[in-house]
Amino acid sequence: SDSKATADERMQGICNLLKDSVPHYDWVGFYFKNGDKEELKLGPYAGAPTDHTIIPFGKGICGQVAVSNQNFVVPDVKAQDNYIACSITVKAEIVVPLFVNGENIGQIDIDSNTPDPFTEEDEKLLEYINAQVAKIL
Ligand code: SME
Repeated sequence: SDSKATADERMQGICNLLKDSVPHYDWVGFYFKNGDKEELKLGPYAGAPTDHTIIPFGKGICGQVAVSNQNFVVPDVKAQDNYIACSITVKAEIVVPLFVNGENIGQIDIDSNTPDPFTEEDEKLLEYINAQVAKIL
């Protein structure tokens, strides 16, 4: 639909803006629950293309957030045993769930090539962005 296209375009703009304006954001993307399936599907993103366009619930940092409904800050991806590597340059990751009417319907995912870069400020920023995106979905 037209409104879906507009939401995707807006999310693409958010990804581009975040990646270009925050030095420690090297890959920025949205994942969403894929219909009735127990998996996430990649939505708009900025950064290198990833092979991981579908992620089963529970797998990797993203899949864990799909079931925990909580922010997941990873200061050192090498210390995680349930982690899906997208690029060997990535040192850290943050995933923040996106709620619509209290339901976890997706998430924003940031990869950083800088070790341990994320603070509470990043969590607050990404929670705010997700709350804005929720209004246009
Ligand atoms: N590293 C993620 C997979 C997605 S890529 O970062 C784009 C994970 O472990 O879920």
